[in-house]
Amino acid sequence: DKGAYPYYMLKEIDEQAVVARNIAAHYFDEEGQLQGIGCAITDKMKEADRLYIVAAGTSYHAGLVGKRYFEQWAKIPTEVHIASEFAYDQPMLSAKPFFIFLSQSGETADSREVLYNVKKQGFPGLTLANVMNSTLTREADFALPVLAGPEIAVASTKAYTAQVLVQAILASALGNPGFDLKAELAKVAVEISAITDEKETFKKIAETALKDQKSAFYIGRGLDAAVSLEAALKLKEISYVQTEGFAAGELKHGTISLIEDGTPVFALLTQKKTAGLLRGEVAQVAARGANTVVITSKSLTKDGDAFVLPEVAELLMPILAVIPAQLIAYYATLDRNLDVDRPRNLAKSVTVQ
Ligand code: M6R
Repeated sequence: DKGAYPYYMLKEIDEQAVVARNIAAHYFDEEGQLQGIGCAITDKMKEADRLYIVAAGTSYHAGLVGKRYFEQWAKIPTEVHIASEFAYDQPMLSAKPFFIFLSQSGETADSREVLYNVKKQGFPGLTLANVMNSTLTREADFALPVLAGPEIAVASTKAYTAQVLVQAILASALGNPGFDLKAELAKVAVEISAITDEKETFKKIAETALKDQKSAFYIGRGLDAAVSLEAALKLKEISYVQTEGFAAGELKHGTISLIEDGTPVFALLTQKKTAGLLRGEVAQVAARGANTVVITSKSLTKDGDAFVLPEVAELLMPILAVIPAQLIAYYATLDRNLDVDRPRNLAKSVTVQ
């Protein structure tokens, strides 16, 4: 039931703070010790020389963020693969691979095909799914819940943030984030609400930057490039504004020729190491007429930025940075009088290959 909300998507965007708290409560005990991830899982993962995250769509984008946690905290090399590609063109695998299937529904046929193939080859795997007791959770060796609660809108929102959070927790069970993850997650939950409270800001951004526009861009570097892919998918799949998300450094290798007067370019800028370079790229598209909308974090902000995100641990910033993009997509779609929850040609769960 969507209660007083006009659409499930908006309700699900708002639920993200509660979801973050529920995930923390499930995976940490009162003393801040991890719970709920059995040694059978962590032992098997530690034996692996490489992790292979396999997923589709939004879940694939969540995997691109998760890769950072597994590599930086757990120190295990990690590859992220699109399930429909992996299924028919299996890449060369390491000697001891371990598979992670990321899925909201647990029923995505492309991911199921990969699970079926790798099981036949005798490789171990874990499913992180929102719907437990789904095919992917039943058929993998291990399964952990993503705990986003039922997601009804076709456009995935809270399942993405939940998948990112659960991957962070799992990586922290295998290594060391270097900070108190439980305390930081409590902060993340508070700051998610601070962003979702700013709906009017995002409504205005959608109305002004995207009015009458047929195309748009999301750019970022590093983790912001990963979030840009998800941000672009959100906007295009429900508003039908053709949106590309990509690594900002690639602009000069081709895409910048698409920039015209008024082209909306959203820049996600939360990573200190590359902030200067990204500022340069924003200036380059602005000089060619782009209407730039910079979404940045508090310590990196400059005059003229469209929205300042509260600050949490830098590697957790994707969880906050995606929320403006979800809300901008939502309001751009409302402006076009389209059905936010049910975009054309799409199903919530893609059970065919
Ligand atoms: O249920 P899954 O997470 O396996 O679904 C994968 C994609 O179909 C899904 O993430 C899709 O891209 C989203 N609905 C887009 O918002």
